[in-house]
Amino acid sequence: MAFPIHRPRRLRANDTLRRMVRETGLSTNDLIYPLFVIFGKGVKKEISSMPGCYQMSVENIVKEAEKAYKLGIPAIILFGIPEHKDAKASQAYSPKGIVQQAIKAIKNKVPELMVITDVCLCEYTDHGHCGIIKKGKVLNDPTLELLAKEAVSHAKAGADIVAPSDMMDGRVSAIRTALDSSGFEEIPIISYAAKYSSAFYGPFREAAESTPSFGDRKSYQMDPANRREALKETSLDIDEGADIVMVKPALSYMDIISDVKESFDLPVAAYNVSGEYSMVKAAAKLGWIDETKVMMEILTSLKRAGADMILTYHAMDAAKELNK
Ligand code: PBG
Repeated sequence: MAFPIHRPRRLRANDTLRRMVRETGLSTNDLIYPLFVIFGKGVKKEISSMPGCYQMSVENIVKEAEKAYKLGIPAIILFGIPEHKDAKASQAYSPKGIVQQAIKAIKNKVPELMVITDVCLCEYTDHGHCGIIKKGKVLNDPTLELLAKEAVSHAKAGADIVAPSDMMDGRVSAIRTALDSSGFEEIPIISYAAKYSSAFYGPFREAAESTPSFGDRKSYQMDPANRREALKETSLDIDEGADIVMVKPALSYMDIISDVKESFDLPVAAYNVSGEYSMVKAAAKLGWIDETKVMMEILTSLKRAGADMILTYHAMDAAKELNK
């Protein structure tokens, strides 16, 4: 039975009715706000390819974190730009590292805000790769030890959740074991489970100063053409102890978000990455799109695809919109 019995437009007649039949809701609770912390004092330097995002020194990060929490955003994720980079990424696991300092300062001022840390070496290595290099190759197993040290050092500084983004095999289990043996068995792991080798990370690499000095990340990050492999990656991370699984990037990978949500019973995070953000900003600046409407549509569609939480540089603007 079809028209004229069925008229889907009946349920779209006015806003109140549309609210009643709306299938997906977006709330400030869904947002995770990425922040870039850098050495120095009084630094707040806009990232040219990511308008509205800044590299900030610790005291400015604390202020931003406070603002985020006041707007109802439950969590931030921290990325660090260290003072020195070297082959072993020493600053990644130094107790005096920039992320470690930021965690302490934030937890001191806004203890209720969940502080997530990105666990990876690329911001800390002089070559910009996510692992130890030998003869031009990124070594898997020797890298695990450093990632585990980094995660424990974040936990010691007071991080609430750690999020490995390196895509080495076995990192979740290495990190889980290290956390447990250091008394941090209650710290959850968000694994970047299906992380693709994506050109959408371009602006982030300016922000985090983490562009690889040679080659690319294709030998560790996933091939954008692969769908079933995402389920394999995710199930391995779950077996190793991941508490939340992430799909990254988000917009070109909504099929993956949906597959992961359907296939597993863990919370799913989606990373609305830098390039996705910058495209919206650029088009809006040119007057080609309505920034706020496009932003809300993107975030809502990620929820619809199956994301339970969204890492997004739009977090502050979206929270302001949701609080209206
Ligand atoms: C670190 C890392 C990257 C991003 C998050 N963590 C960059 C990369 O893998 O090159 C990208 C985030 C973004 O583009 O917003 N490995």
